[in-house]
Amino acid sequence: MFKNYLIQIHNLTKRYEKLTAVDNLSLNLEQSEVFGLLGPNGAGKTTVIHMLATLLKPTSGSATVNGFDILREPEKVRASIGIVFQVPSSDDLLTGYENLKIHAMLYGVDPGVREKRISDALELVGLTERKKDQVKKYSGGMRRRLEIARGLIHNPKVLFLDEPTLGLDPSSRETMWKYIQQLVKQEKLTIILTTHYMEEADMLCNRVGIMDKGKIIALDTPTKLKLMLGGDIVKLKLKKQDSNIDVLKNLECIKKIDSLDGYVLLSVDDAKKNIPEILKHVEVESVESSSHTLNDVFLKLTGRSIKEQQAEGGFMERYMQYDKH
Ligand SMILES: Nc1ncnc2c1ncn2[C@@H]1O[C@H](COP(=O)(O)OP(=O)(O)O)[C@@H](O)[C@H]1O
Ligand SMILES: [Mg+2]
Repeated sequence: MFKNYLIQIHNLTKRYEKLTAVDNLSLNLEQSEVFGLLGPNGAGKTTVIHMLATLLKPTSGSATVNGFDILREPEKVRASIGIVFQVPSSDDLLTGYENLKIHAMLYGVDPGVREKRISDALELVGLTERKKDQVKKYSGGMRRRLEIARGLIHNPKVLFLDEPTLGLDPSSRETMWKYIQQLVKQEKLTIILTTHYMEEADMLCNRVGIMDKGKIIALDTPTKLKLMLGGDIVKLKLKKQDSNIDVLKNLECIKKIDSLDGYVLLSVDDAKKNIPEILKHVEVESVESSSHTLNDVFLKLTGRSIKEQQAEGGFMERYMQYDKH
């Protein structure tokens, strides 16, 4: 049966001379999904978002957003989406409230419901108390939250969040995650977010597309992507080196047994849950476990690490400079 997807992307491509920023991307999203595009700098994430938001014309291919064609019906697409850009775009000299009011007017929000929508949006992102302060007095996290509020003011069906926590310190990042999770619970929104933080994709998204060089190279739930690597690793130091570890072979949760430098290495499904069961069968001096991350998935697929590539900086440095003034 034909399924009515909220976003349909078909062979979407963007080329800049010799560089293919987005390469024949096809993808369907259902309503109320929180979909993550995870990948290193330059993977093509922002380019995808900008094409779907009709800010950038594809070289070839097509897409519909909320049933509207991005090439033939760009105004309708724009009216039904909200977008939070990678680079801050609120007016520094205006207050939080004024920023939202201008946006509501630009989007033609009915004046009869305007004030209510503004106060609801401020409440949702925890900025009610600070609404009369100029944005230049806000922290980086507060600015980004204001931009989320702004993106929601005209009641869109789809929200694009381009690197929502870029440049935030770890504690503001966690605060931001809580607000995004709350948003997902309260509003019936479909969200596409881009990020190069694997914990972020893991925590917030119900599906993740891992992107590299313009292509989605893996697409699934975070749990299944990590399972692809064959479970968690548990490292045991046995009390007696000659202990009989054959008994472990019969445990269903253990997928593989290796040894290294006097340790036994087990490949285990869901280590947290299964370690107590394993320890019933062998006497150990020590036990350590490590879980896979989405970065491990990227590493396995590309031979490179998402993190290493971020060290090249570039954009991040520019962003931090922007944030200072
Ligand atoms: N206007 C442009 N002209 C030429 N190349 C561009 C332009 N915009 C983006 N690119 C290139 O396209 C690729 C994808 O960029 P982008 O979508 O911003 O990646 P991401 O958001 O994943 O970091 C990068 O190699 C980038 O340098
Ligand atoms: Mg980007």
